[in-house]
Amino acid sequence: MIKFKLNGRDVSLDVPEDTPLLWALRDDLGLTGTKFGCGVGQCGACTVHVGGRATRSCVTPISAIEGADVTTIEGLDPEGRHPLQEAWQEIQVPQCGYCQSGQIMQAASLLRDYPDPTDEDIDGVMGGSLCRCMTYIRIRKAIKEAAAAMKSAKTEGDHSNG
Ligand code: FES
Ligand code: FES
Repeated sequence: MIKFKLNGRDVSLDVPEDTPLLWALRDDLGLTGTKFGCGVGQCGACTVHVGGRATRSCVTPISAIEGADVTTIEGLDPEGRHPLQEAWQEIQVPQCGYCQSGQIMQAASLLRDYPDPTDEDIDGVMGGSLCRCMTYIRIRKAIKEAAAAMKSAKTEGDHSNG
């Protein structure tokens, strides 16, 4: 039995230890927002957060996440209104949409490390998240918009706190 936290809830799963986290999420836990692309850690479609870090769930065996804190696109924001999700909607980033949950999860991890990312920071971190529809320019724009929104929300919070 593997136990971990998923989107803030305790989960126990009785699956073979080498089950990829991706398939545990999709098939056993019914969270289909995380997508299968290449299956070998190369495309980023399956990206989730483990302990707050972007992680490719297709190459992460379930045994490796015992006791960990896992967040999927379904849990990024309780209302689905994370600044990245809002910016994605506003800029209409997706085309077919298939890669986009992985892109957003990778971008959320990027903004933790680079709250005010340059083009180079974005390209460096997002470069391994592939999009067959070539939405890269809109992704970059949406990340910058989300970063600005998060910065101004923080400034407002700091002011109202004192
Ligand atoms: S499906 Fe996991 S990196 Fe491509
Ligand atoms: S939006 Fe189609 S693969 Fe990225």
